[in-house]
Amino acid sequence: MAEQGLFSSDLINPEVQAALPAGYTARALRLSDYDAGFLDCLRVLTTVGEISKEAFTERYNWMAKNDSYYLLVIEDASNEKPVIVGTGALIVERKFIHSLGLVGHIEDIAVAKDQQGKKLGLRLIQALDFVAEKVGCYKTILDCSEANEGFYVKCGFRRAGLEMAHYY
Ligand code: ACO
Repeated sequence: MAEQGLFSSDLINPEVQAALPAGYTARALRLSDYDAGFLDCLRVLTTVGEISKEAFTERYNWMAKNDSYYLLVIEDASNEKPVIVGTGALIVERKFIHSLGLVGHIEDIAVAKDQQGKKLGLRLIQALDFVAEKVGCYKTILDCSEANEGFYVKCGFRRAGLEMAHYY
């Protein structure tokens, strides 16, 4: 039996799966992705740090219990050793306003350097949008750099507001 992921496979957009290159799969993050290059994929985005398997497992289990974290990966199984080539996250925020509305936050989109330009980033966003709609979000928002604005516009997003931050 296939290892269980962070969320149900019913939330995987079949159109995204059909549009991926042969041998590629979109699915929920699994614990075993620690050994399939998940953290290396994230390193394309920013500093990740040295995370032990134990620490990874603890954070994964916390997310699994929390029921608001939808971490998705694209796996390339066309070679002998399957490897994670893309990842993205949807975090669902539960509000009081808008009649207990749910807002999706897209975070940590990363496509391995040698896999960029193959529409994997677009597929990740389409897959996360599908999850957001299915779980009942009324909108999904994200922050990005000016350099990535064009990518998100191609994914159907439009500029709305301004990000501000305090770093600790
Ligand atoms: N600016 C403008 N257009 C872009 C950019 C960009 N930076 N990147 C891709 N595009 C265009 C592509 O040309 C393509 O256009 P087309 O449909 O006309 O051919 C379309 O967007 C889809 O591109 P993909 O092939 O799906 O892009 P890719 O798989 O390379 O993924 C991504 C894009 C995720 C930005 C990737 O380059 C990456 O991982 N970069 C490093 C990490 C990063 O910056 N992540 C985003 C952080 S923001 C956040 O996480 C919320």
